Amino acid sequence: MTESLPVTSVWLTCQQPARDQRRGRYVPQTSSHPGKMLPHLAAHAISAYTALGDLVFDPMCGSGTTLVEAMHAGRHAIGIDIEPRFTALAEANVGLAAEHGATGAAQVISGDATGLLDLVPASAVGRVALLLTSPPYGRGTHGLVKTTASGVRKRDHHYGDRESGNLAYGGWSRLLDGFTQILASSHRLLRPGGTVVITSRPVRRQRDDLIDLPGELLTAARSAGLTPVERCAAMLAAVRDGQIVHRASMFGLMAVRRARADGIPVHLVAHEDVLVLRRE
Ligand SMILES: C[S@@+](CC[C@H](N)C(=O)[O-])C[C@H]1O[C@@H](n2cnc3c(N)ncnc32)[C@H](O)[C@@H]1O
Repeated sequence: MTESLPVTSVWLTCQQPARDQRRGRYVPQTSSHPGKMLPHLAAHAISAYTALGDLVFDPMCGSGTTLVEAMHAGRHAIGIDIEPRFTALAEANVGLAAEHGATGAAQVISGDATGLLDLVPASAVGRVALLLTSPPYGRGTHGLVKTTASGVRKRDHHYGDRESGNLAYGGWSRLLDGFTQILASSHRLLRPGGTVVITSRPVRRQRDDLIDLPGELLTAARSAGLTPVERCAAMLAAVRDGQIVHRASMFGLMAVRRARADGIPVHLVAHEDVLVLRRE
């Protein structure tokens, strides 16, 4: 059985579309990562749970959103990703943040975060104020869309190499076991009272089969020795004059319309679940 926590606050993290949040602040190739965190979500978590000069850690850093937003907020950061093409992207984004005058520094490491204690510098042990991360939700996402003469094509919608140890492949139990292992190792990096913020959302596998990924991740985090303190909702839609303005992709909209036409009452997902936990 999965667990739940009541939602305690709503973060307005999508008042601007994601591409506008990244424009000029991230290298253009960042669009090739299939599952990026919203920069305003990362920035909000960093300002809410850390202070100037603190150390932020992302064991699955992808294109480096956590690192870039930490640097701009005057925090330092360490990020790991298993795919060398994503760590190259994160390095480029960290370089751009430094060029833009960000006062924090960040280190990017390539490797499998299930063995993170062999990857991070020993000086980080017991010093991390915030672990901020988002695990992959299955093999990929909608990616980018290109319309060609022969129809609509998707690109950049897979996480990468099936053989590499990427937790995007191999099913839910491998993802949850690997993620629990990552959190258990990260426990040693966190300072006492340090915060863990995990973002995710329920995943629809078949049209009528909804997996409570946030609930599963909460159970994983508890079993890694972390104490739940808050559950928040980070908006993936804008709120204007009290109304929700969705920012769903064409594929997301089409999937909902088709399911509803078939009598399955699904809804567009308009927020990301944010789990906040603490190392006692
Ligand atoms: C949802 S994405 C994170 C995106 C990131 N927050 C960003 O804004 O770009 C999850 C990431 O986990 C990485 N990953 C999967 N398995 C991993 C592992 N065992 N160790 C480290 N990274 C892993 C994937 O390559 C992917 O980039």
